[in-house]
Amino acid sequence: MQEKRIITKSSQETFDFGKHLGEAIDFPLIIFLQGQMGAGKTLFSKGFVAGMGIDDEVTSPTYTLVNEYGTPPRIFHFDLYRLKDPDELYEMGFEDYLSQGCTLLLEWPDLVWQDQLEPRLEICLKTCLETPQQREIILKTDHPKVAQILKAL
Ligand SMILES: Nc1ncnc2c1ncn2[C@@H]1O[C@H](COP(=O)(O)OP(=O)(O)OP(=O)(O)O)[C@@H](O)[C@H]1O
Ligand SMILES: [Mg+2]
Repeated sequence: MQEKRIITKSSQETFDFGKHLGEAIDFPLIIFLQGQMGAGKTLFSKGFVAGMGIDDEVTSPTYTLVNEYGTPPRIFHFDLYRLKDPDELYEMGFEDYLSQGCTLLLEWPDLVWQDQLEPRLEICLKTCLETPQQREIILKTDHPKVAQILKAL
């Protein structure tokens, strides 16, 4: 398992870090985004989508559950906070989303946390009360290509 930790000191830095990763990763990946409310998962996602070279406006999929970006869709952005049962997700065709060879960004992924969802990158954003503008971002992966990208960051 390759692990990388970075600190961002502002919203802009988290956006830029997401953008940098979006530029560096040029293959489909499943990205698990953990962290409490307001940690910066959506902000990171905005940067990531921009880094993929997609100019769509990225909004939080809080109510829609999933938003798609790019034409044809190249990335699906989920917010599973409201999901009560993983079956709901499979009923809305999660398998189809998985089989399209697109990148998936998953906020609140705990209910679909399965090891077989690969290749994956696990990202956790941590807040600290004393430094509200700062985030620690911890990235973990088992995937050799992603590990190489993390090393090079
Ligand atoms: N260093 C930082 N990195 C990211 N966000 C920051 C940082 N400092 C302050 N913020 C603020 O924290 C908020 C992050 O909001 P965001 O919607 O991205 O969180 P989220 O993790 O997606 O929350 P939710 O679980 O509700 O979807 C924004 O208002 C952003 O401006
Ligand atoms: Mg969010």
